[in-house]
Amino acid sequence: MPSPHLLTLHHLPAEEIRAILRDAIAFRAAHAAGTLPARLAGRTVGTLFFENSTRTRTSFSIAALRLGAEVIDLPVAGSSHAKGETLTDTARTVEALGVDALVVRAAQSGAVEVIARRVGCAVLNAGDGRHEHPTQGLLDALTLADAMGRTDTLDLSGLHVAIVGDVVSSRVARSNVFGLTSLGASVTLVGPPSLAPASLATLAPHVRVQHDFDAVLPHADAVMMLRVQFERHGDSTRMASPAFASLREFRAACGLSTERARRMKSDAVVMHPGPVNRGLELDGEVADSKRSLILRQVANGVPVRMASLVRCLNALPAHN
Ligand code: NCD
Repeated sequence: MPSPHLLTLHHLPAEEIRAILRDAIAFRAAHAAGTLPARLAGRTVGTLFFENSTRTRTSFSIAALRLGAEVIDLPVAGSSHAKGETLTDTARTVEALGVDALVVRAAQSGAVEVIARRVGCAVLNAGDGRHEHPTQGLLDALTLADAMGRTDTLDLSGLHVAIVGDVVSSRVARSNVFGLTSLGASVTLVGPPSLAPASLATLAPHVRVQHDFDAVLPHADAVMMLRVQFERHGDSTRMASPAFASLREFRAACGLSTERARRMKSDAVVMHPGPVNRGLELDGEVADSKRSLILRQVANGVPVRMASLVRCLNALPAHN
């Protein structure tokens, strides 16, 4: 039975991932040709974001609107949640208003799954704490397949992806580990032990942890840089973290500088889920270079979210 929820890429079979990506590719082509079907006409999609977002929320909204759905962006700052209502009560209240799908981002790992168990509508995880961000993992897999000429097969065998920086705090890294390895790629997680502990190698087969970025760099086909998630390190100034001595030390250990980028394979690509802290984890020059897939990642977010919404809404029991 297909699930009406998309909460994680962990244990999602490769064939299911490929089916979603194939739908995304078809939506992408239909949009380019001006023939997008109104597959979500009559549906209402609510976005409920308990954490900041620019591209994910907008991308889900554009995806739903282009397929003919109504979209309601639910305010959180001024909502009853701010008055002490639980996440689940907020979500159930929203569902009772007639929403067919809820796109939820939460600060706590696992919170979106808790909500999914309590509501009758479809629930899509737009990022929960340090846990997962499945649609980001899917759009990254599609972007990499496109760049490597694997769009037809969606088979990433033989490709080596380095995911670099604050891996331990990153839901993007976890969803990518599951998505990319499931499609055949091997993944090396890179950072100092405080940001990339050796235990992360047990996340999935074909995953390694390496603390020396320079040892990995010349062998990677794709280098995915991550933002330091200062908000998860207990520091609101965004200047310091107990995980490293200084920003300078972090940058020296795992920043992709212009100089470092010269040591990449000639055809290797650079990825970043955004938002980029230019000059910290990634130099602006590299972010804007020919190697960079950053804007293609953003663009692929829309068809991937179209495919994800349609898949979840189609799996809802008929009475919904
Ligand atoms: C990421 C997130 O929020 O998990 N951004 C995104 O969705 N594109 C990564 C981040 O915030 O660093």
